[in-house]
Parts: sequence; structure tokens; C-alpha cells
Amino acid sequence: MKNYTSINDIDNINSWIEEAKKIKANPLANKGLGKDKTLGLLFFNSSLRTRLSTQKAALNLGMNPIVMNVSGDAWGIEFGDGTVMNGNTAEHIKEAAAVVSQYCDIIAVRAFPSLTDKEKDESEHVLKSFVKFASVPIVSMESATGHPLQGLTDAITISENTTKKKPRVVLSWAPHIKTLPHAVGNSFVEAMQKMDVDFVITNPEGYNLSPEITKNTPIFHNQSAAFRNADFVYTKNWSSYDDYGKILKVDKDWMITKDKIGDAKFMHCLPVRRNVVVEDAVLNSDSSLVIEQANNRTFAAQLVLKKILESL
Ligand code: CP
Repeated sequence: MKNYTSINDIDNINSWIEEAKKIKANPLANKGLGKDKTLGLLFFNSSLRTRLSTQKAALNLGMNPIVMNVSGDAWGIEFGDGTVMNGNTAEHIKEAAAVVSQYCDIIAVRAFPSLTDKEKDESEHVLKSFVKFASVPIVSMESATGHPLQGLTDAITISENTTKKKPRVVLSWAPHIKTLPHAVGNSFVEAMQKMDVDFVITNPEGYNLSPEITKNTPIFHNQSAAFRNADFVYTKNWSSYDDYGKILKVDKDWMITKDKIGDAKFMHCLPVRRNVVVEDAVLNSDSSLVIEQANNRTFAAQLVLKKILESL
């Protein structure tokens, strides 16, 4: 595998899940694979789980991770072609990506969307510029439109925790005070579409994700109808896609409560705002898988790095 920038880079999700479970059972089994190899982690945005779990995954494979907070610590990077760089950007992506490629065998990038310019965000100009101008493989650690390491993690976590051959999985929008991206929701939808699950999405009107992502997945605007017989409730806020980047309503009625989800397992990628997105009673209960999910971030990243290292 050359790059991992989308859930669509997964050729067979079931075999990936089984391989991730083997890695989890014996995380140091491939300690020699990454010897003398360097993973560069470039962050344009904040992170806790992605930053630490991807470094941990690299260390488990014997790699040397090096990390940079690009926003703030590096020179401002210009992505436009032919730009007269007499503004705030001091270095072009053509040089930056080529230079970092000399220090690293794999480059992982986190770059969120603007949520103000739909066309630019959907062009994935940051991630795709790294793919274009770097000479080494690129891994997305969350881009403008996708979070494929999270989506793979979530697929692994559902597979580990299901007691049914075909569980009912519900992705539910929930309220938030900030304008948030669609990336986690998009990658979760794409991952569930590859799995043998009874999958539906529920969100208020005006909050449908991109139809190019949701395709034929049923969308309910009635949350309680969607939750009927749910085995897993995956919760995430996202801003409006149609009225791009806008918060249309902060409706407490959509907050996840124990009463609403019953015995269903609760999932969230974290970080989560307690008592805004989900009430304490859910997160404090045995139904919550959020800590287990965060643990699986390491093994999802380790699987991706292993596949790339094997192809170098
Ligand atoms: N879930 C996730 O990506 O967490 P971080 O933003 O903390 O990396």
C-alpha cells in the first residue's frame, strides 16, 4: 500500500479487522519491521489520541517517530501554484514536502477543513499537495473530509463488541457549541458501508452529510425511531453540509441519554463534551466503549503503518 488517505484504501475490511486483532494480541510481533525507519507526524491542528496513538504504533513497529506542530512552529506554508508569496506564507509546499521526505520514510498529516470554503475543503488541497509533492507514502491523520484511521478503529471496535452476526448500528448527530467538520462522520459512514451491519444515520433536517458519502444509507430525522433495536449508537456532531459550516440549531433534544439508547453500546471518537453531546450517565456506564475505541487507535495505525512498511 502506497498511501492511506481514505477508507476506500481498505481493500477488504474484514481481513484488515482480523489482522488488527492479531496485532492487538501481540503488538510487538513486528518490532523489527520499522527498524531505522522514520515516521514524520505533521499537525496543522490539535490532537491527543491521534498524536499519541500513531507515535505508539510507530514505536511498536520499531520506527522512530518525529512530530511537528506545523501551525505556529513551522514557516507558514503556501499551497497555491504560482502565488506571489509576499504575504504571510514563507515556504511553498513543493519545497516543504520534498524536504520532509528526505527526513522521513512515511509522512502522516493532520489538516482540518476551513468550513468556510466548501469547494476548497472538498479538493483536499493540503493532503493532496503532500501526496503530490512528497516522495514518500502519506497517511491521513484526519483531513478536510475524512478521518480514515478513526473509521478503521471504529470498525475494529464494533467487530470486537458485537454479539450478533449483523448488528444494528446507528450514527447519530448530537448538539455542540462549536462548528465541527464532517470528517469523522464521513469515514464512519464509509466504514459501515463496507461492513455487514444494519446501518442507519439519524440527524436533524438540514444536517444531512454529503450525498456522495451517504449514498443509499437510510437517514432518519426522528432519532427515537432510528434508535429502535440499536446495538451500537455512534455519536458525533457535525456542522451543516448544505448550509456549509453553519450551526443551524443547538438542540438539547438530540443529546444522547441513557433513556434513549437503552442497552445499546455507546461510541464516540473523543474528545466529547459531557452533558452537551452525551450525558454523564452514558459515559459513566458499562455501555460506553469510548476508552476501548481510543485504545484501538493504536492498532488501527499500526496496521496501516505495517502495510506501508511491507510495501517500501
Ligand atoms: N479522535 C481523535 O482523532 O482524537 P484527537 O483529535 O485527540 O486526535
